[in-house]
Amino acid sequence: MSIAAFCRMILLIFLLKSISYSRLFVYAYVAPISINGKQFVNSINNEPFYLKGVDYQPGGSSEVNEDRDPLSDPLACARDIVLFQDLGINTIRIYSINPDLNHDKCMSMLAIAGIYVILDVNSPLQNQHLNRYEPWTTYNSVYLEHIFRIIEQFSHYNNTLGFFAGNEVINDKISAQLSPPYVKSVIGDMKTYIKRHSPRVIPVGYSAADDLNYRVPLSSYLECAEDRSTSLSVDFYGVNSYQWCGRQTMETSGYNQLVDAYKNYTKPVFFSEFGCNKVLPRRFDEVRALFSEEMFTTFSGGLVYEFSQESNNYGLVSISSDGTAQLLGDFDSLKKHYSTTILPDSKQVSIAISKDHKIQVDKNETPLCRAKYDNLNINGKVAKGLGSSLIKSGVDVEKGKFIQLSDSDLDCTLKIVDKQGNPWQGQSKIKKVNDLRPYYGKTKDEEENIGKEKSRKKNNGNSISPSIWSSAVLLLANFVYQSFLI
Ligand SMILES: *[C@@H]1O[C@H](CO)[C@@H](O)[C@H](O)[C@H]1NC(C)=O
Ligand SMILES: *[C@@H]1O[C@H](CO)[C@@H](O)[C@H](O)[C@H]1NC(C)=O
Repeated sequence: MSIAAFCRMILLIFLLKSISYSRLFVYAYVAPISINGKQFVNSINNEPFYLKGVDYQPGGSSEVNEDRDPLSDPLACARDIVLFQDLGINTIRIYSINPDLNHDKCMSMLAIAGIYVILDVNSPLQNQHLNRYEPWTTYNSVYLEHIFRIIEQFSHYNNTLGFFAGNEVINDKISAQLSPPYVKSVIGDMKTYIKRHSPRVIPVGYSAADDLNYRVPLSSYLECAEDRSTSLSVDFYGVNSYQWCGRQTMETSGYNQLVDAYKNYTKPVFFSEFGCNKVLPRRFDEVRALFSEEMFTTFSGGLVYEFSQESNNYGLVSISSDGTAQLLGDFDSLKKHYSTTILPDSKQVSIAISKDHKIQVDKNETPLCRAKYDNLNINGKVAKGLGSSLIKSGVDVEKGKFIQLSDSDLDCTLKIVDKQGNPWQGQSKIKKVNDLRPYYGKTKDEEENIGKEKSRKKNNGNSISPSIWSSAVLLLANFVYQSFLI
């Protein structure tokens, strides 16, 4: 045998071992995330989905305007997605978006890179958020139209993971007296709009300041069902937590109590912001805690605040006005944890849940609303029906769609430099994880049937499944191709 032939053979054996037909074709597809009980799940294979991500608002919250927002500049997206992949994340949160801009290219790039987006529907601009002290002045049809337009546009992307109806709207004594029923109304309006107009059910949640006065009451109030209807209940709950600073443990940080507070929660809970910066440089040891058995039964992961360096000093990366991104020390420190974190699968989760006696697994039903919640006033009267004509007719906005990207669209053309200012040695283009062709594979039910079919055939003797034939054809094609190369 010639050396070339020998190499080909080794290559073939290697390919045979590494190529899994189903991975290559069936799952190279952007699976929408849905919710099953306390968990986010991949809607195709039903495996749990854990958020491992960062908050992304380059330029700060003021950087949304008529001309730009975090997903309007494909070159900036390419640069940052390359860094997201290097960090090892699967989700970003974006705080403000302008639905008059086109986001197809950035969303397609994120989808190809295997990254989901969770989106706040509010912005600091006028008519685009609730005023927490006078919510009645801002809860109106102009505001509702804004949030419906964002929903309408982003519902069409499979990598839209969910929408936040609000971020820390209730954060002090006065807002806790005035705002709670308004937040619930907004959640209800969003869910109704999605039900009527979106191609799939996209979950709606709330992102809360972790204040002990409201931790339990607010999460319970937003979760509860009114008159047995869950139409105003959050689908998931985000907690902004900054209590693990420097070297800590579950106990010294108070994470153990935080976890206990949400053990019985019937919806997914995760950190919508974390990463205390009181002790610098940040170590991010809390990542290990977050994905440990003690926490992953209750928390579905989290998002580090935040990707870009702004005046509040939480950045992983500093972005200058010419578009150069410089990695900061915290980038490496977070990468060390994220890139080595293995997310739990369904088997690990069910074993861990069965061992945890504090979890009430069968309490899956949404609790009914009580008359009173500590430290909150839930009796304010909210005007009803302000969104009904918009919900009926739908709102006018360009609907998002995935677009075909050329190979050069995946190149990072803006400069990335390391801590010392030298050119960064990492990848220079986005790694393709997903394909944006429509999915023609099998749904989970179909797969189960195929599974049954297979085992039936196995028992009956020998029958080669179509996927093995396809793999064989693939290998043969590859063999011919390689023969030409060598
Ligand atoms: C969870 O439910 C159990 C049983 O109903 C109860 O004993 C426990 O106190 C609850 N935990 C919280 C944090 O509400
Ligand atoms: C998006 O998800 C839907 C429903 O699961 C699927 O039919 C469609 O093919 C997906 N699109 C892409 C581009 O993955």
